[in-house]
Amino acid sequence: MVNFDTSLLNSGSYINGCWLNNTANTFSVLNPANNQEIATLANASTEDTVKAVDAASEALPKWRCVPAKERSRLLRRWFDLVMENKEKLAEILTAEQGKPLAEAQGEVIYGANYIEWFAEEAKRVYGDTIPGPSVDKRIVVIKQGVGIVSAITPWNFPSSMITRKAAPAMAAGCTFIVKAAAETPLSAIALAELAHQAGIPKGVFNVIVSNRAKEVGYVLTGDPRIAKFSFTGSTPVGKILLEQCAHTVKKTTMELGGNAPFIIFEDADLDEAVKGVMLSKFRNAGQTCVCSNRILVQSGIYEEFSKRLVRAVEELKIGEGTKEGIDIGPLIHSGAVSSVETLVDKAVSDGAKLLTGGKKASLGENFYQPTVLSNVSPNMSVAVNEIFGPVAPLIEFETEEQAIDIANNTEFGLASYIYTRDIGRVWRVSELLEYGMVGINEGIISNEMAPFGGVKQSGMGREGSKYGLEDYLEVKYLCMGGLCS
Ligand code: SIN
Repeated sequence: MVNFDTSLLNSGSYINGCWLNNTANTFSVLNPANNQEIATLANASTEDTVKAVDAASEALPKWRCVPAKERSRLLRRWFDLVMENKEKLAEILTAEQGKPLAEAQGEVIYGANYIEWFAEEAKRVYGDTIPGPSVDKRIVVIKQGVGIVSAITPWNFPSSMITRKAAPAMAAGCTFIVKAAAETPLSAIALAELAHQAGIPKGVFNVIVSNRAKEVGYVLTGDPRIAKFSFTGSTPVGKILLEQCAHTVKKTTMELGGNAPFIIFEDADLDEAVKGVMLSKFRNAGQTCVCSNRILVQSGIYEEFSKRLVRAVEELKIGEGTKEGIDIGPLIHSGAVSSVETLVDKAVSDGAKLLTGGKKASLGENFYQPTVLSNVSPNMSVAVNEIFGPVAPLIEFETEEQAIDIANNTEFGLASYIYTRDIGRVWRVSELLEYGMVGINEGIISNEMAPFGGVKQSGMGREGSKYGLEDYLEVKYLCMGGLCS
């Protein structure tokens, strides 16, 4: 049953400015709040994906010669259309992904901000001139788009993860193909419709929707015409895709899993720290790779902080994202619920104490109660693995050094958070944390102006900011000789 505006949707993939409309092979999109079918889409094949690469390849020579100012104007038009349609886009997003409507609208705007930012940055791709090694030589550096870019995006942010990759690629003069997550392809289709309305030339922006992840993935990571591959998803899948990209030595941006520590020191403002944890932990029902995954609390405030956090968590309203006042929607599917259940049950059997929540909610198969666990030790599986659900494990620590050790003792290095009012500690701890991002007295760190990305097995490359554009550019050095007559 569909109870949202479908005017931005279509039959399937958007390739070379046309919609795939193959009814012989289709797949269904379900609403995670009730598991009801909300769309049936043409299921793109390997051949369809190759056609998208053909289209991106054909469009590239023209697109890279379009003046930056004109590329900027087209992106800006796309941004305006996304903003004009933000309510419709949010309804689509909630229907396929489950997050509450207000949060879905927040994501649409967050995603649109990347288009706006890179529309502006398109005009600021500067090079360099460098003194030459001899009187008759000069060195000039220019920057050019890498070429065709392919991407695979996740279901937890169906709109913004596409724009965060597509906008810098297109701003840099690259053509782009994205495979949207099979669970959440509708936001991608709606974005393609708006790109079409914005006048983005055919072949420049292509969207593949399909549940044949492996086959499509092989083309997007293997076709030698593609210069760069960008992925947001789990570390294990990222490793496989990286291997596939190695055969044609593609440039890659990998935004992979996290195990974010959220460290609260005794001198922190406790109410602010609770607010920070609530935002960082429970955004999107805990299904983000920058979610706090381990909440490290110094011993002197452990009891008091736990009490205040439990009070805040028990106020969260869980339910269907379309309903008024809901804070937490369903998880994406029953598999996600089972994996959260397993982590919580194991933690409890290993000695963690359940302070609130701890089981499936009675609202339907995909709902899990917001949960707080105390007495968690750093080696429990709930603290070692990415939880990807609404579960806050509290770990007690004594000293700054111990907190840093626990925080860094993971293969991940995406986001981290610290709460303290000691400025010396802010610098010491921030510099010692082995993470790409540190939130300091701040639980929400993502925005288009900042470089989002991780170190260690959380990936490579940066998205957003001026650094995000660099990832889609090649540096070319021109050596000018014979300058003396
Ligand atoms: C993600 O979870 O993959 C992205 C989160 C964000 O952009 O804040």
